[in-house]
Amino acid sequence: MKDPVRIAITGAAGQISYSLAFRIASGDMLGKDQPVILQLLEIPPAMDALNGVVMELNDCAFPLLQDIVATDDANVAFKDADFALLVGARPRGPGMERKDLLEANAAIFSVQGKAINDNASRDVRVLVVGNPANTNALIASCNAPDLDAGQFTAMMRLDHNRAKTQLAQKAGKHVNDVEQMIVWGNHSATQYPDLAHCKVAGKPAFDLVERDWYESDFIPTVQQRGAAIIKARGASSAASAASAAIDHMRDWALGTDEVVSMGIPADGSYGVEPGIMYSYPVTCKGGKYEIVQGLEVDEFSRGRMKATEDELREERAAVEHLLG
Ligand code: NAI
Repeated sequence: MKDPVRIAITGAAGQISYSLAFRIASGDMLGKDQPVILQLLEIPPAMDALNGVVMELNDCAFPLLQDIVATDDANVAFKDADFALLVGARPRGPGMERKDLLEANAAIFSVQGKAINDNASRDVRVLVVGNPANTNALIASCNAPDLDAGQFTAMMRLDHNRAKTQLAQKAGKHVNDVEQMIVWGNHSATQYPDLAHCKVAGKPAFDLVERDWYESDFIPTVQQRGAAIIKARGASSAASAASAAIDHMRDWALGTDEVVSMGIPADGSYGVEPGIMYSYPVTCKGGKYEIVQGLEVDEFSRGRMKATEDELREERAAVEHLLG
């Protein structure tokens, strides 16, 4: 039996975690031969609810689940963590402006970044799910100066998976037939799901779908999918978000042949200068991700990539004073 790995989850009594924690404990993230210890963080008013989640986790009698820590202390939750999934965030309240939301979350993610810096494994891999995910990931990484900024990532995989399914359904194919999907930029309505490099069953996507459908239907549908789910379900996407978080971490840790989209520190690739967490196409191997280089970018794509970059720079400007 392998040694257990420690997985911290924040917002552990929330909707996403209600799916996420159980799937991780059952081995969906790191494999059916990898024991895990769950380290669950909540705020004090949610500790009763968190205890209920712990009771249910215990009642599942998961063979891989070695131990559960439930706490409202970030230093305890991140202690020796090998993986950290930062799901808990402050939702937008009545009358709250975008800037207020950014600031409220900046306060949470700066504290958690510092706690990760001071307590987690030196090889910790961090995924930020809580919105605004890219800027929250930036804040956490800026507050963890002893770790590499590249250890912090933001979740774009739900957008990536949504885009794959929209294309597969339109082309009358299965999602397994879709390759080289890319979602660039921010996890927000400015994100750019790009079909220019995408193939379906080995053929260029544009051999199977019309350009007009792409621009006026596909892009807005993917960008607005979160809102469409809230409208239909009366609650935000939770199980699909948890599934995407598992896909992201599994591929990062165990590798994948697929090109996937991850929010990572911009490094100048594709003209996106450092200072923001931008979603790029990456491949993952040996526990590391690498940006896919050398893709041609036409004028249409350039404009879309720049618009979502500009939004991330505006978000950064709103929290600049908290970046240290
Ligand atoms: P939820 O409201 O059901 O759960 C959030 C939990 O976080 C609550 O239990 C709350 O008590 C906890 N929390 C708040 N502040 C905390 C702190 N400082 N430390 C620890 N826990 C804290 O929300 P849900 O549905 O689970 O969503 C969580 C976040 O994920 C939201 O910000 C949502 O917008 C975001 N999200 C991101 C997606 C992405 O693709 N990046 C997709 C879907 C949701």
